[in-house]
Amino acid sequence: MSIKNKVFTILNSNSDTFISGNDIAKILNVTRSAIWKAIKSLELDGYEIISSTNKGYMLLNSNDMLSKDGIEKFLDNKNFYNLIVHSTVTSTNDLMKDIAIKGGNEGTVLISSNQTKGRGRFGRSFYSPKDTGIYFSILLRPSFEAINSTFITSMSGIVVCNTLKNNLNIEPKIKWVNDIFLASKKISGILTEASFTIENFDVDYIIVGIGINIYKPNEGFPLDMNDTASYILENKIPDLRNRLLANMLDEFYKYYSSFDLTKISTEYKNLSCVIGKKILILEKNMTISALVNDIDEQCRLIVTLESGERKILSSGEISVKIID
Ligand code: BTN
Repeated sequence: MSIKNKVFTILNSNSDTFISGNDIAKILNVTRSAIWKAIKSLELDGYEIISSTNKGYMLLNSNDMLSKDGIEKFLDNKNFYNLIVHSTVTSTNDLMKDIAIKGGNEGTVLISSNQTKGRGRFGRSFYSPKDTGIYFSILLRPSFEAINSTFITSMSGIVVCNTLKNNLNIEPKIKWVNDIFLASKKISGILTEASFTIENFDVDYIIVGIGINIYKPNEGFPLDMNDTASYILENKIPDLRNRLLANMLDEFYKYYSSFDLTKISTEYKNLSCVIGKKILILEKNMTISALVNDIDEQCRLIVTLESGERKILSSGEISVKIID
């Protein structure tokens, strides 16, 4: 563990009380100037630390900063997960791809407070501003057949909705296939990427990337997102993002370890906000309007087109927009 992380651990276990630089230096057996450097670096990461010449340093408990220790404090399934926490990355999915190619283990989770090149489906970007959201990717190496991989996306949507409901008493819904909506606006997106071996179509790895807008971005949303994107909370809650992440990983493990496809498709359908709605089907250069009749046991969308033709849609290259 770096000196910075050790200093953070000490401050965090004494949060809202002062501890002198001298005492921290003694505990860690390093110089006071090394402590000072670590404090400055933590402040640059966004932690609010009060410094007093006589009393030392105090980490404010009103912080809602992501940290490995902070998440592990709430996490039950520590044996399955290996957490890597960064303050900023390009894209957690992109970095995880490198880890996967180099043989990274199932259960590796890459978490960041900020992404400079966050990605969504169809090559779109995913706005990932600093310190107000949660952005993370989970590496999986499942033994099931490739055909079942699509259930991982549906399962992840259920996990996000359940965790937000359990912690914040809100009832988000899933807009097929993987957008999480609250009051008709998107608060979260999920990007599942997989690699298969060509010979037998075994799953080599799956990366589940999840982004959630918890608080209002410091600079607001870009203008073109104002009508479609939203966030969950106005005011910061201490340690909320650490708790949500831990609870989400535990909830994910619960569904992944049983991988009960009937349960997943039933719950996915119950959380859907598209059934009975008029939609636009956006497919490559085509836009078709349709009415959503149902979601089937494979989490596919059953629709009736304007022509009266009934169609079953799999996620693949299609996205939908609710119009009524
Ligand atoms: C979408 O809305 O189309 C999916 C958005 C997925 C965003 C998450 S944030 C963590 C992970 N890293 C990325 O670059 N994307 C996913």
